[in-house]
Amino acid sequence: MKTTLAFDIYGTLVDPSNMASHLLHDVGNDAVEFSEMWRQKQLEYCFRRGLMQRYADFSVCTADALKVTCLHFLADISAERQMELMRLYQHLPPFDDALLALETLRNTFRLFAFSNGTAAQVDAVLTNAGLRDYFEGIVSVDEVRSFKPDPAVYAYARHATGAESSPLWLVSGNAWDIIGARNAGLEAAWVRRSDKNIYDAWGIEPTITVRSLTDLITVLTK
Ligand code: LAC
Repeated sequence: MKTTLAFDIYGTLVDPSNMASHLLHDVGNDAVEFSEMWRQKQLEYCFRRGLMQRYADFSVCTADALKVTCLHFLADISAERQMELMRLYQHLPPFDDALLALETLRNTFRLFAFSNGTAAQVDAVLTNAGLRDYFEGIVSVDEVRSFKPDPAVYAYARHATGAESSPLWLVSGNAWDIIGARNAGLEAAWVRRSDKNIYDAWGIEPTITVRSLTDLITVLTK
């Protein structure tokens, strides 16, 4: 069977930092810092809920993270506007290299989306970004009621993609996700688009590191 590539979504195919452009309207000069804290808190809430075995889906983690970020910045953002920001979160723009890479990679590999988001959220985000048609399927942690980097979630991805006895790669821009995948026995390609994106020194290395999804084509198909 062909090799399967399972793509992380947020921070790999679409860019959550784009929320800063919307937040300018709400918090002015704090927009970039606000959007960074929002993303960090969203991830922290997923990790904590995973550990506590108190699952609530990714949109709950995202909405709760928005609320605590508002408290931190003393930002008075109305409930309606928070709902609007959550809606805009489904319209994150794709990274520049995503479309061309997926178009090329699908000729050689089986492509899946693999995310902490629910299947419906991921479907919407990919559709809005013009990327949905490149994927054979969407694998969501929602089925397991836990979150990456729980090993159970990566094991589930192997099962859900049917890659039980063929190579399965995670492709992700998130170092913690790469470490999670390697920990669970997957191959993993870290997409390091910027020098600011640093890797945790845990001694659990990516199988390969690339600078863009376009570079991934060169490395995986050579
Ligand atoms: C994803 C986020 C958490 O799993 O990066 O798509």
